[in-house]
Amino acid sequence: MPRIRPYRDEDWASFLALDLETGRASLRSSTPAEQERFQETWPRTLKEKFGWNEAGPSTDKASLLVLEDDDGWYAGHLWLSEQVDLFSGAPKLFVTTLAVTSQNRGRGWGRLLMERALEEARRRGIRAVALGVDARNERARKLYSDMGFDVTRMSMEIQLRQVVQTEH
Ligand SMILES: CC(C)(COP(=O)(O)OP(=O)(O)OC[C@H]1O[C@@H](n2cnc3c(N)ncnc32)[C@H](O)[C@@H]1OP(=O)(O)O)[C@@H](O)C(=O)NCCC(=O)NCCS
Repeated sequence: MPRIRPYRDEDWASFLALDLETGRASLRSSTPAEQERFQETWPRTLKEKFGWNEAGPSTDKASLLVLEDDDGWYAGHLWLSEQVDLFSGAPKLFVTTLAVTSQNRGRGWGRLLMERALEEARRRGIRAVALGVDARNERARKLYSDMGFDVTRMSMEIQLRQVVQTEH
């Protein structure tokens, strides 16, 4: 049986590799240059935006858990952040990211991590658990809807065919 434990400093390389893979998958319509930029800047973003240190994200009320397989290998992670709903002011537990390493998918471990997120919310006395997911990520969407998640908001985007060329 896999086990879930807190993130440790030595998990950084495994965390980053899986997080970059998750991020790249949601950048499918981006150009190779944009993908490359993401790859280069994401480690810095984690450090600057999420105040990443040896304990993982250090922004307020964030926690990062690691899933280990039977042999102690890194098999996935769950990053949770406590937030306040902008409209209602009610607390909610946001699943910043959830991922299982590719060789371990389809074994029920993603569900196990999400069950842990729900358990964590109950333990903290928080009723709402929320997340954002790429509309094309059918596997993840199926997992979430099977577990009882509903679509509450949608983000929409249009890619314009013609724009004025500017330097960024
Ligand atoms: C999404 C992810 C976490 C699911 O983890 P997993 O361990 O593969 O999922 P599980 O084995 O626990 O399966 C849970 C459910 O996912 C769905 N699922 C699993 N494999 C699937 C597949 N090949 N196709 C479609 N749905 C699938 C099913 O609903 C399944 O429930 P069931 O077993 O009762 O049918 C995993 O695929 C992953 O890490 N993907 C890359 C990172 C990612 O996209 N993270 C989500 C960001 S929001």
